[in-house]
Amino acid sequence: KSYNVAIMGATGAVGQQMKEQLEKRNFPVRNIVFLASSRSAGQEITFKGETYTVQEAVPESFEGIDIALFSAGGSISEKFAPEAVKRGAVVIDNTSAFRMDKEVPLVVPEVNKADLRLHKGIIANPNCSTIQMVCALQPLKEQYGLSKVIVSTYQAVSGAGVNAINELKKQSADFDNAKHAEASVLPVKSADRHYPIAFNAIPQIDQFTDNGYTYEEMKMINETKKIMHDETLSVAATCVRLPVVTGHSESLYVELDGAPTVEEVRQAIANAPGVELMDDPSNQVYPMPLMAAGLDEVFVGRIRADLDNPRGFHLWVVSDNLVKGAALNSVQIAEALVGEQII
Ligand code: A2P
Repeated sequence: KSYNVAIMGATGAVGQQMKEQLEKRNFPVRNIVFLASSRSAGQEITFKGETYTVQEAVPESFEGIDIALFSAGGSISEKFAPEAVKRGAVVIDNTSAFRMDKEVPLVVPEVNKADLRLHKGIIANPNCSTIQMVCALQPLKEQYGLSKVIVSTYQAVSGAGVNAINELKKQSADFDNAKHAEASVLPVKSADRHYPIAFNAIPQIDQFTDNGYTYEEMKMINETKKIMHDETLSVAATCVRLPVVTGHSESLYVELDGAPTVEEVRQAIANAPGVELMDDPSNQVYPMPLMAAGLDEVFVGRIRADLDNPRGFHLWVVSDNLVKGAALNSVQIAEALVGEQII
């Protein structure tokens, strides 16, 4: 059996990666439609050796579509996802529009694949930073119980889209002017003030909420509880943007219910699906975004026991935010729908 697939936001940083994942993983595509705004309608995209023309998205674009992968921004999803569902498509949405909706499963297949069965047409793909974190947390929760997580992120600009990548490239060419570089994209397009990202670190991703945390931080907090089915899990996050093109890094402090040895924690991580242990400090082996870019895995290293709390551990988690953090996870959701005969 094969499926009619649409990519909404096909010209974006994540949309392009969605196309590549469908090709690379040989997803059973019968027909594929590439959708974007009128700005890029008419552009050409090659898929499995054939050339396709990007079309402007309209509600009718979803006639006959079985699976629609969305990554064109929250407001576009709010407008078009119901139109796609109305026409019989299952929407896998990479924006934050529906993630906390009780009717919408929020899925990382390695953690909560079973939730897919509850879908009513829309399935949400979690935030990129959340996805790689829960992949590392799940084996620890399963084996030792998990009570608390404190995470600080070191996030790449590609998470903010093609324009953010272009801005970093442009600013990076002029080191002498770093402080006064022109900036219009980061920390977030809709903000009142913009700051240069080249040679900088910006402790703001997305807008601030009323409690002093940013939306990105609150996404990590709320989505983690929803995916892991644990409202009592204590989560705190600080999200920071760095001048890295692709690959998010995270420093995690976790508290477990049990008190395993560091070696036991390493084994749990090593055996987890989708996760690769990369932890050999004596040979300077640890994950970094430059080496993780383009790869599927969530890499974990620098695993250490806390020096005071026998249930506390520190980990360093790195993954490609466009791959496992977005496009790969979306395509894995589509594969699970097919594999579990949900679609
Ligand atoms: P376009 O290239 O036509 O602007 P990124 O997150 O990398 O900036 O990508 C955003 C994606 O969402 C792009 O593919 C972009 O298409 C698409 N997009 C933005 N606005 C719309 C819209 N109004 N309708 C459809 N697609 C949109």
